[in-house]
Amino acid sequence: MRLLIKGGRLIDPFNHIDAIQDLLVEDGKIRSRGNALDDSGCEIIDASGKIVCPGFIDIHVHLREPGFEYKEDIASGTRAAACGGFTTVCCMPNTEPVIDNEAVVGFVREKARKVGIVNVLPVGSISKKQAGLELSEIAELVTAGCVAISDDGKPVMKANIMRNALDYAKMFGLPVLSHCEDLNLVNGGLMHEGYYSTIYGLRGIPAAAEEVMVARDIILARLTGGHLHICHASTAGSMALVRQAKAEGLNVTCEVTPHHLTLSDEIIDGYDADTKVNPPLRSEEHLLALREALLDGTVDCIATDHAPHHFEAKDCEYELAACGISGLETAIAVIMDKLVRPGLLDIKDMVKLFTSGPAGVMGIDKGSLEEGKSADITIIDSEIVKTVDPRTFKSKGRNTPYKGMELQGWPCMTLVNGVLVAQNGEIVLKK
Ligand code: DOR
Ligand code: ZN
Ligand code: ZN
Repeated sequence: MRLLIKGGRLIDPFNHIDAIQDLLVEDGKIRSRGNALDDSGCEIIDASGKIVCPGFIDIHVHLREPGFEYKEDIASGTRAAACGGFTTVCCMPNTEPVIDNEAVVGFVREKARKVGIVNVLPVGSISKKQAGLELSEIAELVTAGCVAISDDGKPVMKANIMRNALDYAKMFGLPVLSHCEDLNLVNGGLMHEGYYSTIYGLRGIPAAAEEVMVARDIILARLTGGHLHICHASTAGSMALVRQAKAEGLNVTCEVTPHHLTLSDEIIDGYDADTKVNPPLRSEEHLLALREALLDGTVDCIATDHAPHHFEAKDCEYELAACGISGLETAIAVIMDKLVRPGLLDIKDMVKLFTSGPAGVMGIDKGSLEEGKSADITIIDSEIVKTVDPRTFKSKGRNTPYKGMELQGWPCMTLVNGVLVAQNGEIVLKK
């Protein structure tokens, strides 16, 4: 099987490539790049005018299976990923049962192999049942195929558990993905604490609730030498702490989400529960600090924290609503429209933040168009204009604050192992 992707603008930040080149794929692998490649016996994809990138990787996704299949499952979640331009997702362990042992890891991997249409890499839990009291069997999780550990959805409130997690994970070269939130400081808060929480009359969550945990975990990363990765960093203070930790040479990385980069707490004015997320949408000053950190290398990758919910969990008072945004199908368009098109982020940096950036964090052999690598490819059309309509989502979660928004710049083709799986928001692979 030979496939030639012709005439596109190839952007491969890992290999410092930004050029109009053809890409030859053979038997699911990248065969060669260049101009005037031999196209005999090739199926041709005309990519002229399009941007051809290594497959996008989202290291923070909630696929909800096992246990919460009414919110999402591996089939629907990987379809959403493919339509959103992602070829690899890492799935978080806050399922039921929790991904805290070999059997559950095995179940997720087997299900992904059977019904998944993109690569699924499981994240195991830090603590048994994510109860924060006792470490999971980390060696067992690694052997079973986990690429990281995390108690995401909940913070690890006990510092000694986090210390041991960093220590153990270090032995296996795994990152510890930390959901930084001091629950005592959150104290029942519903949105960012600031001007708008006062105006809207909702209890606030101070930026410090995140920052004290980022600071604690950085201190523990220094103590242990373990790889600490901060999930969904959302405040100026978190950015300053990570920047400083990196300058010191610590093994600390971080991700930011499309929503924290593009929406601020002001939009909570209509009490639309789709704006409720954890950490909460912050004020403009924090949003601007995240954008700055995106440019100076403090941020390693963009991750969606795709958190699909059943509509009933959002169709209620702000106070009662579940936290989370269904983000896989809008991430690229949001970043293209809000940051790349206005010139706030270079397209090459965007591609890096979705490819070699996340691959580096997770230590996985993906995120480049090097010869011999799996042909995971994302093609973007920066001309497509579409209005976000959650009813068309492949995800079961239609909870998005971007609904009704017109965005320009969408993924148009997603290839996994050289096979076209999605095109212009529709699944083309039969599985
Ligand atoms: O908004 C969120 N939703 N934040 C989290 O940390 C967990 C996630 C979920 O699982 O719904
Ligand atoms: Zn989280
Ligand atoms: Zn999450």
